[in-house]
Amino acid sequence: MEQARDGRMEGVERVAGDAEEPGSGAPAGVWPVHPDVERVLLPAERIQARVRELGLEIARDFAGRRPLLVGILRGAVIFMADLVRAIPMEVRMDFMAVSSYGKSSRSSGVVRILHDLGENIEGDDVLIVEDVIDSGLTLAYLRETLATRHPRMLKTCTLLQKDSPAARRVGADYVGFVTPNEFLVGYGLDYAGRYRNLPYVGVLRREIYARKG
Ligand code: PRP
Repeated sequence: MEQARDGRMEGVERVAGDAEEPGSGAPAGVWPVHPDVERVLLPAERIQARVRELGLEIARDFAGRRPLLVGILRGAVIFMADLVRAIPMEVRMDFMAVSSYGKSSRSSGVVRILHDLGENIEGDDVLIVEDVIDSGLTLAYLRETLATRHPRMLKTCTLLQKDSPAARRVGADYVGFVTPNEFLVGYGLDYAGRYRNLPYVGVLRREIYARKG
């Protein structure tokens, strides 16, 4: 995936900020639009179509190899589960869990591994699978950390990349959608552990997460 100098990603769909409003009849899978969701940014069908494209692209790039897909718990679980089924070749799966501190400051963040890979990845063709690049802290850390373990190939895939300079700087080899820099939930993304199982990605209403007083 080539990233142009101005940060635009070739072949990546850019999501307009003014997507479907709740109740507009936009397809959102089997769920009605959640009342805490201000608007649906990516209906389930649109996500699934893009996942199919990404799967084929990854299969082409990894042809003749047996990639190890590393899903990052917990947000990437839904995407990972759909993505592996969209890659028409043999793949292996493993997971890592990380926690990052200092996200609120968005600068001095420290990432810590809570659950590590089950196996040595030396000589492996590894694809890190994330749900979203926001500050970029998590993916930058993972890329750096896994690179020290000497995989043969190390690539990155994210369903969503926020449209921000920080997220663009970190970037990924495969990006599903570049989204407005808003509070997104659904399809694995949560707020306080909620909304992960919405089949679409939506913008969370400000009053749900804004501090009172
Ligand atoms: C989310 C998401 C990414 C990370 C991206 O994880 O799943 O891993 O944040 O943010 P960043 O680019 O600012 O680092 P979170 O720590 O919220 O945990 P979760 O996956 O369990 O939701």
